[in-house]
Amino acid sequence: MTEDIRLNSSKLGTQEYWNNFYKKEQSNFQDNDEDTGECWFDDSDAESKMIQFLIDKLNDGELPVTETPHIRMLDLGTGNGHLLFQLSQDLSEEYEGDSEFQFIGIDYSPDSVEFAKDIAGKKYGDVNFEFEQVDLLQKEAPFLKNKFDILLDKGTLDAIALNQDPLQEFDGEIGMDVYARQVEQLMNKGSILLITSCNFTETELVKIITTGTNLQVWDKINYPSFQFGGVKGSTVCSIAFIKD
Ligand SMILES: C[S@@+](CC[C@H](N)C(=O)[O-])C[C@H]1O[C@@H](n2cnc3c(N)ncnc32)[C@H](O)[C@@H]1O
Repeated sequence: MTEDIRLNSSKLGTQEYWNNFYKKEQSNFQDNDEDTGECWFDDSDAESKMIQFLIDKLNDGELPVTETPHIRMLDLGTGNGHLLFQLSQDLSEEYEGDSEFQFIGIDYSPDSVEFAKDIAGKKYGDVNFEFEQVDLLQKEAPFLKNKFDILLDKGTLDAIALNQDPLQEFDGEIGMDVYARQVEQLMNKGSILLITSCNFTETELVKIITTGTNLQVWDKINYPSFQFGGVKGSTVCSIAFIKD
């Protein structure tokens, strides 16, 4: 159980916050189409590290899905969709294999979905991106019947963990304890879930994701670490999990 791992509640754990956030970002984008909004964990270079990690694994044939002719990528809590846009662009330049990719982003905020679609249409019209409004914590959401090969999360579990409200559909469990079981439904055996978090240590993240699921640590991304008071740490961690 993960009762020993709890964050304080914050407005960043509410849908209202994210709706207002993406409304504002979309309005900024209308005024200036160079402004596609916040790139979370940019200071740690997390987005480019996640992308490079995946491209290297694909090119080295290390991903279990390497031989799949059609690889389905899902961004969980996609926000402005930037991770998917950049991933598609970098794959088109660096990927050496023959597989084709499908890029899907989901978010529970309708304003995020509208914003991501707007950016996709205006700036990336030559690639097919799909964005859909899905609450990852809705039990038996129809979307959970889909399966994906590579699942990405940059900051979404972090946001979910900032809400301590008990979920009625899950007998009062909170979001961060339900998340991994929900996401697991979107994976086949051999699918990979790559999560970047700034709120949890590696040990905590592993416990949250592997408790009550068939997910296991597959690999991780290394970030420069700092030492403070004899304790080693880094500002974010990214861990890839595989479904067994
Ligand atoms: C910190 S932002 C990160 C956004 C994006 N991944 C990025 O890196 O820019 C957290 C995102 O998670 C989304 N989110 C939070 N709870 C969610 C849930 N239950 N289902 C789907 N999306 C959720 C929010 O709407 C927001 O877009």
